[in-house]
Amino acid sequence: MERLDKLLAGTGRWSRKEARELLRQGRVAVEGRPALRGEEKVPEGASVTVDGLPVSTERTVYLMLHKPAGVLSATEDRRQATVLDLLPEHLRKVGLFPVGRLDKDTEGLLLLTNDGGLAHRLLSPKKHVDKVYYAALDGPVTDGDVRAFAEGMTLEDGEPCLPAGLEPAGEDGCLVTLREGKFHQVKRMLALRGRTVLYLKRLSMGPLTLDGALAPGEWRPLNGAELEELEKLR
Ligand code: URA
Repeated sequence: MERLDKLLAGTGRWSRKEARELLRQGRVAVEGRPALRGEEKVPEGASVTVDGLPVSTERTVYLMLHKPAGVLSATEDRRQATVLDLLPEHLRKVGLFPVGRLDKDTEGLLLLTNDGGLAHRLLSPKKHVDKVYYAALDGPVTDGDVRAFAEGMTLEDGEPCLPAGLEPAGEDGCLVTLREGKFHQVKRMLALRGRTVLYLKRLSMGPLTLDGALAPGEWRPLNGAELEELEKLR
């Protein structure tokens, strides 16, 4: 049994305050009966709807975060701020973790979820989920760099990389497309070509593209279309 307001907030789609407002407006029903009280206890597996549409009571949460520079892609750290510190309290207790890591100084798209199966599929090199990054560099990329990326590079410690995309973007910038996520991979691949990354931002991950309306540090739940696209990876 769980309190209705907590259950609604636990989906990540509404804050507790917004959930109370939905209840007050009579938009929530439990087992087809209108529910007005947040304190109402909901049995496990009961049907809960908002505006007639079912709300998943399995508490899987999917959030798109525009990770700012300066925070760790981790769930906790003794000294430094993590991406979970950017979320309101009610979302810090539902077991969310970042799907793949971005370096502390990297910005951009980070998916936070408590759906371990989905995280595994998104990160598996076998699923060929492309991740696209924009990098600002200390100089332009060359045709030779593009060819080296396409052929598949070997990192300085001998680790081989899958073929990757490299495309010049503006003056001294480039777009890098990876289908794996080795430690500091973009920076290390570019370093092997003699380039230094001055700024790095992840723009997309498989079907998810960073929402341009989110400023660094802002987040939103994934929308229905995004969830449908992720469902196709199963
Ligand atoms: N590659 C990097 O070097 N850093 C990141 O944060 C992501 C990919």
